[in-house]
Amino acid sequence: MPDRNLSCRKSLFFLFAMATLLILVSWVLLLDSTGASRLIDNHRLSISTPNRVFSISEPASVAAARRRPNALSRESDVKKCDPNSAMLKVFMYDLPPEFHFGMLDWQPEPNSNSVWPDIAKKIPGYPGGLNLQHSIEYWLTLDLLSSRFPDRPGPCSAVRVMDAKEADIVFVPFFSSLSYNKFTKEKVKTKVNRDKELQDKIVKYLTEQKEWKRSGGRDHVIMAHHPNSMLNARMKLWPCMFILSDFGRYPPNVANVQKDVIVPYRHMIRTFVNDSAGFDDRPTLLYFQGAIYRKDGGFIRQELFYLLKDEKDVHFSFGSIRQNGISEATRGMHSSKFCLNIAGDTPSSNRLFDAIASHCVPVIISDEIELPYEDILDYSKFCVFVRFGDAVKKDYLINLIRGISREQWTQMWERLKEIEGFFEFNYPSQKDDAVQMIWQAVARKLPFLRLKLHRWKRFARFEVGLKASRFSPYN
Ligand SMILES: *[C@@H]1O[C@H](CO)[C@@H](O)[C@H](O)[C@H]1NC(C)=O
Repeated sequence: MPDRNLSCRKSLFFLFAMATLLILVSWVLLLDSTGASRLIDNHRLSISTPNRVFSISEPASVAAARRRPNALSRESDVKKCDPNSAMLKVFMYDLPPEFHFGMLDWQPEPNSNSVWPDIAKKIPGYPGGLNLQHSIEYWLTLDLLSSRFPDRPGPCSAVRVMDAKEADIVFVPFFSSLSYNKFTKEKVKTKVNRDKELQDKIVKYLTEQKEWKRSGGRDHVIMAHHPNSMLNARMKLWPCMFILSDFGRYPPNVANVQKDVIVPYRHMIRTFVNDSAGFDDRPTLLYFQGAIYRKDGGFIRQELFYLLKDEKDVHFSFGSIRQNGISEATRGMHSSKFCLNIAGDTPSSNRLFDAIASHCVPVIISDEIELPYEDILDYSKFCVFVRFGDAVKKDYLINLIRGISREQWTQMWERLKEIEGFFEFNYPSQKDDAVQMIWQAVARKLPFLRLKLHRWKRFARFEVGLKASRFSPYN
């Protein structure tokens, strides 16, 4: 009896196995015929919202560039902006000009009621020199202002909407970095700090808006790229999404990698166009230029100087790049294989982006650094990371650098040339340049933003209008 039972079970199992196999085979065939298997192969995960699809994976261009070198061609991108397919619908406050283009010495026409310059005619210039490293506020605002131009070229990641209820985010066009640079470094010290005054004004303005009250600021995007910008306001506007260069001077509850977006500095060094200067054409092994003593993490620079000063193919010089030093620094970085990026008084600096624009492989010694778009970009493919603790060991750094082969270096150099466009700020913006990449990074935060917002709203219906102020963090 037990034998027969067993063989019965065996044949049942066989039948079951065959059936399963058949189902699997037909499933695979079906997938193939619909093209769905391609999606699965690429490990793309798409989220659909009405009319819009965005995917949680690297942009197609990043993936394409990974597969084919030099694939970031601009020719194929001369498409028009299609507002319906934008990832991000943005409502922008019509702030008084003193918060933005007024700081660029622009004034509205006497009989105009627009707070914005007519940028189709003339674009007010942003102050040059070191101000430019933090000019992100300028590029993003210009991009939004032009997002509905009928002849706007290139695909657009973000479009402006005039009704806040249609918007994914609310954009605050306050040029806070310029406000810091312009008003706190004035030669003649004024009694009232104009930068602080503008910050107080913006807090008051925002917290009075119905858009702010509706979300407690959770869907607001505020730019504070200069580490010292928004110094007073940041503690009051913390529920918003900040656009920052790093988190060095922020407590983690005010800004963190989950909620906020890290974006590049605009580089100061000229982009190395048509770079054919490979391994043997770059005589300097390792290049560093920077201030010798900065507070906080800065001691490491001095340590490294003593470790490296006798290496003959290492360029190590102190003094920050000023306007007239840019040509010299450009020459230096364009003729170096590796460029050191050492933490100064903040974890980030524009030096990393200068190195990328020079295709000089960055050597990053900054344990606390946060990098732009790192959720979709693997920096280890074109940067060398060294921990503080290792970098100060005798001969560690120089041996590591000398141990990188010509082939390994050339791979990183090729990758730098593929990705450099992600760090270029343009107007009009181009496909996957820094402006588009920043909007896309903001769009990738939307699921988390909505989660936060919906959780906050659970009980808000009882309170909004009655005690809305209870939800604002500043009283
Ligand atoms: C780079 O190369 C292209 C194509 O050969 C050429 O048209 C362009 O002028 C070059 N640019 C520079 C700055 O050399």
